[in-house]
Amino acid sequence: MKVRYRPAPASEACLANVYVWESPVRICHWLIAGSIWVLSITGLYMGNPMLTAPGAASEHFLMGTAKLIHFYAAIVFTLSVLTRVVWMFIGNRYAAWDKFVPARAIRRKGLGPTLRYYLFALRLPPGFVGHNPLAGLFYTLVFVLYGVQIATGLGMYAASAHVESPLRVFTFFLPLFGGLQTAHWIHHVVMWLLWMFIVHHVYSAVLMSQVEENATVESIFSGHKFVPREDLIYSGYRFVDRDTLRGG
Ligand code: HEM
Ligand code: HEM
Repeated sequence: MKVRYRPAPASEACLANVYVWESPVRICHWLIAGSIWVLSITGLYMGNPMLTAPGAASEHFLMGTAKLIHFYAAIVFTLSVLTRVVWMFIGNRYAAWDKFVPARAIRRKGLGPTLRYYLFALRLPPGFVGHNPLAGLFYTLVFVLYGVQIATGLGMYAASAHVESPLRVFTFFLPLFGGLQTAHWIHHVVMWLLWMFIVHHVYSAVLMSQVEENATVESIFSGHKFVPREDLIYSGYRFVDRDTLRGG
């Protein structure tokens, strides 16, 4: 008979209810996610106008509308990214910058086991309450990509902004990205890189939520995670390998 292994579900007494994601983290997450959808749909149309309307352009203003929506969504996106970056310095410890950049030894030591878990070489993921070190490192790259989108976007906007627009100041970004044409190309490619991340991100959020049974997916709505007490005791101070702790 085939025996299917399943770790025993942690009893309620072993779990702690932790308020991990404060409201600015959650609000910024969903504003960023929503604006990326809008920016991608309008941006794809701007780069390749597949819909054409007969008659004078002023009668339907299709491209103009796409650009207007793109620019409003760009404001939401940029302000949400900036707010989240500020929150890395004034928010709780799960939101802090050092959960992204692995500056501390504990985070660097956690990278290997987390990768081994993702590669099916470890049965259970190492216990971290907030972002695990590998996810945090990937989010750092994602924030760099956000920055590239904002800088190339502002540069492109500045190139065709009204002569008296204060946003003209952002033309200085263009030479940094190899000129206007290359900035368009980079802006386009980074959109696809972000979508590659998003596909993996949603998959692994659901996977981790199922395996860890700690309401990871729900936490990005409610802010709360239900974590084994041993993780809570050690998280942020000492690395806990739950495989070892549970004798697996
Ligand atoms: C455009 C789509 C999305 C993008 C760009 C995105 C990006 C991110 C980023 C950058 C973080 C780190 C958050 C921070 O600390 O500020 C994060 C966290 C998280 N996201 Fe998303 N996300 C997207 C959609 C989703 C969706 C649809 C779900 C739900 C299935 C989701 C679930 C989560 C969860 C559960 C976390 C916390 C994970 C953890 O504990 O480490 N995300 N997301
Ligand atoms: C994740 C965020 C974003 C995505 C996915 C995105 C996507 C796109 C795409 C696909 C294009 C067409 C590029 C081409 O093929 O030439 C585009 C154009 C553009 N985007 Fe974005 N964008 C984002 C953020 C921004 C931001 C933050 C700004 C401004 C601050 C911005 C401003 C622009 C401008 C000015 C253009 C050029 C419009 C033109 O041709 O006149 N974008 N965007």
